[in-house]
Amino acid sequence: MGGPIPAEALEAVRLATDIVQLVGEYVRLERRGKNYVGLCPFHAEREPSFTVSPDKQIFYCFGCGVGGNVFKFLMLLENLTFPEAVHKLAERAGIALPRFAGAGEEPKSRPEEEAWEVNALARDFFRQCLKRPEGREAREYLERRGISSYTQELFQLGYAPPGWDNLAQFLSSRGCPVKLAVDLGLLAVGERGRPYDRFRHRLIFPICNAQGRVVGFGARVLDESQPKYLNTPETPVFSKGKVLFGLHLAKGAIREKGYAIIMEGYMDVITAHQHGISNAVASLGTSLTQDQARLLSRYTRRVVIAYDSDAAGVAATVRGLDLLQQEGFSVRVAVIPQGKDPDEFIRHQGRERWNELVERSLTLLDYKLDWAVKKGEGLSAALAQVLPNLAAMEGELERQEAIKHVAARLSVSWEAVKDALRRYSAEAGKKWAKSDKNVKRVHTIVENTPLNAELLLVRLLLRYPEYLPLVQQELPGFSPHDPDLSRIYFFLCRQGNPAGWMNELGERGQDLLGYLLVEDLPLEDPARVVRDLIANLRQRARRLERERLIQELAEAERLGDEGRVQRVLSRLQELLPTGRGEN
Ligand code: UTP
Ligand code: MN
Repeated sequence: MGGPIPAEALEAVRLATDIVQLVGEYVRLERRGKNYVGLCPFHAEREPSFTVSPDKQIFYCFGCGVGGNVFKFLMLLENLTFPEAVHKLAERAGIALPRFAGAGEEPKSRPEEEAWEVNALARDFFRQCLKRPEGREAREYLERRGISSYTQELFQLGYAPPGWDNLAQFLSSRGCPVKLAVDLGLLAVGERGRPYDRFRHRLIFPICNAQGRVVGFGARVLDESQPKYLNTPETPVFSKGKVLFGLHLAKGAIREKGYAIIMEGYMDVITAHQHGISNAVASLGTSLTQDQARLLSRYTRRVVIAYDSDAAGVAATVRGLDLLQQEGFSVRVAVIPQGKDPDEFIRHQGRERWNELVERSLTLLDYKLDWAVKKGEGLSAALAQVLPNLAAMEGELERQEAIKHVAARLSVSWEAVKDALRRYSAEAGKKWAKSDKNVKRVHTIVENTPLNAELLLVRLLLRYPEYLPLVQQELPGFSPHDPDLSRIYFFLCRQGNPAGWMNELGERGQDLLGYLLVEDLPLEDPARVVRDLIANLRQRARRLERERLIQELAEAERLGDEGRVQRVLSRLQELLPTGRGEN
């Protein structure tokens, strides 16, 4: 993919892409004044607070505080890296990006890319092995489990032959350094330091990231031996808790259907897709992690959990449920009868029955109550199970209904539930209420009053850059306390197009700039406001300086440094309020 993309090329791609059109491909937008608004694709909302400015070519969401330009939008929505987003938009606009190469030599690409390439090489090797005579047993196994050859292609299934160095030999014949293959978990290192194939005589399931790059592998035995699966260990490009198996194949259907089905295992997802249930992904046996929830939230905030109904599955389900609700998802649970897993159920009952099951899926609250009642848990234990969920509900009306419902199910009084909830909320409840630190991060800056004047001044200068010289003259060393705001002010002084600066800001900086730009600041007399803000900030600077000097004075007196005491005193004199309203 090449090295850093030159700034002019970035700007060309950005200018060639209209943000309203791009966003409009994903979000239904309506005109409102100068801007367009729609339902935010990055958090769940009922009233549109996601705002797109055609003039400034930026977006900002007043609900979750995310903002940026076309690149950031695509990065977030498609979960792309910055260069990936640029390449995608360049392609869309028909702009050829220069391949940036130093004197003759290819630039070093992202380290991930090398890893993805080697993994793809290994995947191809495993695929070949599945098709060759030595793969017969594996092919028969897949056939027995009803996996069609089309599905085998779709998931790029493979077979790792027995023997200790088949893959090792193949990789070295392709010039792949042993160390890299070891780092990627393809080879393991034995006692005497000799590398050998990690996966032997196993069926291979490549695991891809959302863009379809191979990041790791799962490998299943062909019989009943243990362990049933070996997986790629933690590597620089693979972490079990950060991927969702099948997401690269499911993401389109997830958007289309408006929800995702989260299953437990490789085989569940593969069978689901084979039966046209193509919005299914797997969390790979672990209970769902926050990273996985965030990854999924790029595509939907509605999920149906379909875990195995054995005891371990249930426990994992409950943890996954709580986490998802915490992340703002609406969650239902499909209860699969007779301890079957989705793979078996779908194969034996078919897609229609599966869809019925999904339609009958339980709300989170009911699922927990059912479970508690079935387990014969005591009343207080059952209640404790659902309190976090009641506390996390966003709407008061919804909560009141849910409290009634819980009371009825557990045959206790409405007051008893309410009381327990109040006690719970007072203690632990706080960490449940929208624990997402990212959400509202911009709002925190905005609401942080001491910085308001700085924030307002920068916002004003973005709208009325003609006052910049005045500010530079009156506040020579002006540098906002917030580091991102300070960078934005620095860009302002350097001039140029704000939507272009976005590329040089971090994520928080982009959110902040989005916020500052998105709405016009209609002022009758901007000159007056600028002067007031300058006065305010000068006063503040004087006050801070005075406080600093008073401290220094105390220090000098303590040390008996008479000369320094005098110097500080005379500086303090200069800073004395003049009676002209300064303080
Ligand atoms: P399951 O035991 O339900 O596996 O574990 P499965 O996918 O349904 O496979 P089949 O139907 O028995 O062939 C669910 C998931 O847990 C992880 C795997 O990701 C698996 O898909 N797991 C399970 C492991 O990582 N290691 C194991 O030994 C077992
Ligand atoms: Mn299974």
